[in-house]
Amino acid sequence: MKDNMFRCLLLASLVVCSLGHSPKLWRPRFNGKIVGGEQANIEDYPYQLVLRRSNAFECGAAIISENLAITAAHCTDGAKPSYLTVRAGSSIVNSGGSIHQVTKIHQHPGFDIYVLDGDISIIEVSPPFEFGRGVQPIALPDSDMDVAVGSSADVSGWGTTSDDGYLPDHLRHVFLQIIDQDECNQAYGYITDTMMCAKAPGKDSCQGDSGGPLVQDGKLVGIVSFGQGCADPRYPGVYARVTALRDWIKQEVGL
Ligand code: ARG
Repeated sequence: MKDNMFRCLLLASLVVCSLGHSPKLWRPRFNGKIVGGEQANIEDYPYQLVLRRSNAFECGAAIISENLAITAAHCTDGAKPSYLTVRAGSSIVNSGGSIHQVTKIHQHPGFDIYVLDGDISIIEVSPPFEFGRGVQPIALPDSDMDVAVGSSADVSGWGTTSDDGYLPDHLRHVFLQIIDQDECNQAYGYITDTMMCAKAPGKDSCQGDSGGPLVQDGKLVGIVSFGQGCADPRYPGVYARVTALRDWIKQEVGL
């Protein structure tokens, strides 16, 4: 709670913060939802995980191997592994599937809490995931994969579903278009090479979707990071750019 308050205060000017332990208290008032999206089934998004802190919904994450997952660094920042667990194989945020303890956090050394540069963490879990219909890894892109401006990508999560709204129980997803880096930087002014932006009219990821996967051609190309409001036409959603972080992943866990 304190960490999260701190994080929200630090980031208040950017109007970004994760849900932390008290979504009701700390959810910003200006957010939307996995805006404009629709319900999704875990069988179609089998890499999607719920990241929980002290058994409460915190963020999304994505399976990349039998015992590794990727999330946003701002979702693990300041957390002890022992407080974190993930739920795999369920479309419902608070029930079903399997629970796995986080045993180690590899937070990107370049992560910057002020501007959310390098917003990626790899987490190790135990017991390992049992792959099946609703539990599968998502492939990582090569570092030179071309994620073209204007191309489509699919983001999923349990983030809020209406302005200042409630958190949905059921997984949702929405398709977005990758947008030009300079255009995005014109909106925010601090977009770095480890970030990538996506938007679509009336559609966006939102509070609670952080750490979750943005997927193109079966590859994890982005991780939900931040945005000013949600689905505000002036402000695209910002994602950690996995291709730019690919070499670090390789170096850190050999994957
Ligand atoms: N920071 C938010 C979280 O922790 C994600 C916000 C994404 N916002 C957006 N407009 N795409 O859940």
